[in-house]
Amino acid sequence: MNCRELTLSLWVLIFVSTTESSCTSRPHITAVEGEPFYLKYCSSSHAHEMEANTGRWQKSSGSQKRVELNPSSSPRIGLQDHALEFWPVELNDTGSYFFQMGNHTQEWNLNVIRRNEHSCFAEKQVTSKAVRVKKFLQITCENSYYQKLVNSTSLYKNCKKLLENKENPVIKKNAEFEDQGYYSCVHFLHHNGKLFNITKTFNITVLGDSSYIVPVLLGSKLNHVAVELGKDVSLNCSALLNQKDILYWMYDNGLDLNVHEEKEIRIMTSEGRWHASKALRIENIAEHNLNFAYNCTVTSTGGTDTKSFILVRNADMADIPGHIFTRGMIIAVLTLVAVVCLVTVCVIYRVDLVLFYRHLMRRDETLTDGKTYDAFVSYLKECRPENGEEHTFAVEILPRVLEKHFGYKLCIFERDVAPGGAVVDEIHSLIEKSRRLIIVLSKSYMSNEVRYELESGLHEALVERKIKIILIEFAPVTDFTFLPQSLKLLKSHRVLKWKAKNSLSYNSRFWKNLLYLMPAKTVKPGRDELEVLPVLSES
Ligand SMILES: *[C@@H]1O[C@H](CO)[C@@H](O)[C@H](O)[C@H]1NC(C)=O
Ligand SMILES: *[C@@H]1O[C@H](CO)[C@@H](O)[C@H](O)[C@H]1NC(C)=O
Ligand SMILES: *[C@@H]1O[C@H](CO)[C@@H](O)[C@H](O)[C@H]1NC(C)=O
Ligand SMILES: *[C@@H]1O[C@H](CO)[C@@H](O)[C@H](O)[C@H]1NC(C)=O
Ligand SMILES: *[C@@H]1O[C@H](CO)[C@@H](O)[C@H](O)[C@H]1NC(C)=O
Ligand SMILES: *[C@@H]1O[C@H](CO)[C@@H](O)[C@H](O)[C@H]1NC(C)=O
Ligand SMILES: *[C@@H]1O[C@H](CO)[C@@H](O)[C@H](O)[C@H]1NC(C)=O
Repeated sequence: MNCRELTLSLWVLIFVSTTESSCTSRPHITAVEGEPFYLKYCSSSHAHEMEANTGRWQKSSGSQKRVELNPSSSPRIGLQDHALEFWPVELNDTGSYFFQMGNHTQEWNLNVIRRNEHSCFAEKQVTSKAVRVKKFLQITCENSYYQKLVNSTSLYKNCKKLLENKENPVIKKNAEFEDQGYYSCVHFLHHNGKLFNITKTFNITVLGDSSYIVPVLLGSKLNHVAVELGKDVSLNCSALLNQKDILYWMYDNGLDLNVHEEKEIRIMTSEGRWHASKALRIENIAEHNLNFAYNCTVTSTGGTDTKSFILVRNADMADIPGHIFTRGMIIAVLTLVAVVCLVTVCVIYRVDLVLFYRHLMRRDETLTDGKTYDAFVSYLKECRPENGEEHTFAVEILPRVLEKHFGYKLCIFERDVAPGGAVVDEIHSLIEKSRRLIIVLSKSYMSNEVRYELESGLHEALVERKIKIILIEFAPVTDFTFLPQSLKLLKSHRVLKWKAKNSLSYNSRFWKNLLYLMPAKTVKPGRDELEVLPVLSES
């Protein structure tokens, strides 16, 4: 065969293939109502021969006789180049069609189906195509017969518009799994002033990679699963495998009535591999389920892979939540109780604690304030028989205990101030030099003489905030209205009550409370009266 002959035969091949692609060779044909449709005779003779002879079209439906078809028999029918055209084809066009030319006849069986109202295409009319993932995928919208009439074409994927009003929509890409679906080409064409459309749908399936993989189980090969007796557990075994590989559990130890294999779940991954998982459910875990290997295996022609699950008792771990909870609750309650007790004790024994603390720390508030006296004692000075005890308390008992026993230095006007002189100025300067003002209260306390002491002390306490006032109720007082209002403004206008016999001991509450209100001072409790001397002495 020379080069010219080859070219010629190629040209003939192309010609034949194009004519054959437009002619209707299949004997059984399905068409969708409402669409333009045609039947074309496939000639076995040459084209110029066919032009000479014009054939006859006939139709028969059911047992009816054949009827001649021509444009005058129906306005929807057209004849062109050995083709019978329908504009459009309808349901009642179903039947057998014959084309006769010379002693040559071609027959077709046409079945016209209803348009699918719920879809943009008829499922019976789809052309299926499969493509491997990552391989070339091409979808072309072409209609060679109506090519000249087609005005525009749209491409739909799963009935959603992808490309619109293109001349020849084309998709060219490497297939991915997401590309799977129904692609419909809708050609719009005009005929006799009417708009028609023709739909051609491809069912594209994307197949997984055909290449073989060695199956592999996911996760570690040996798994210790902490369990609690009586509970359920689900062991999950997953593998990456080939479509035909098998995933199974090996666990029969003769006692496993409480072990159930669950259904295998297989899905294709986006890379076209298979991912399988199969769970083993162990209900009401018993002793015999522990420390036994439950094996999961994947087998394929290329080998096997096994992984083991071993249930271990989790006595400590499993109990921890409960323990933690009860323990935590107990600790919390105990802490609360302890705090409440501590606070109560602190409130009750506040005075003792403070005194103890002062003693322990050897605290001394008196060293640096430059004052001479620890307390100025204010009391009723008119010594009448009915308040003789009060007077004794102020000038004898108080100094005896506070000075001799506890080492404080008091200022008692009657004792420490020489008679005569400017009494008012004297009192004021003495109060200024004192850290506390001890007032021994009684019904007849308010006299002209003490009023000044009191007012001076109150001024120091309230305005200068240099002195604290200690009230001692020597004899029961029912009515405090005789005291100035401002005294009530003092934060701690606590009144110490003298309880004759009970208060005599140095360890009594009265003296403790008084010491508590007195400034902290480091002095040793006196064993001998002579040893106990005031730390600071006026010089
Ligand atoms: C195609 O034509 C039919 C009527 O023959 C119509 O019902 C349908 O909506 C048309 N399709 C499109 C996509 O226009
Ligand atoms: C066939 O159906 C079409 C529309 O459905 C109607 O116009 C036509 O008359 C019918 N033809 C026959 C022969 O019944
Ligand atoms: C068809 O008719 C032609 C003459 O027109 C004849 O030569 C040929 O043998 C016939 N073929 C058959 C199959 O009858
Ligand atoms: C499309 O192709 C898939 C896979 O080959 C097939 O399962 C499905 O039935 C096809 N759909 C139609 C409508 O033919
Ligand atoms: C398609 O039809 C419209 C009128 O409906 C016309 O204007 C347009 O030119 C046509 N396009 C083609 C490509 O034939
Ligand atoms: C098992 O694990 C895989 C992933 O590793 C998961 O996809 C699957 O749903 C799990 N199955 C069960 C029953 O838990
Ligand atoms: C499970 O696997 C382990 C290690 O692969 C093996 O020693 C054991 O015999 C297997 N048990 C069963 C029940 O197959």
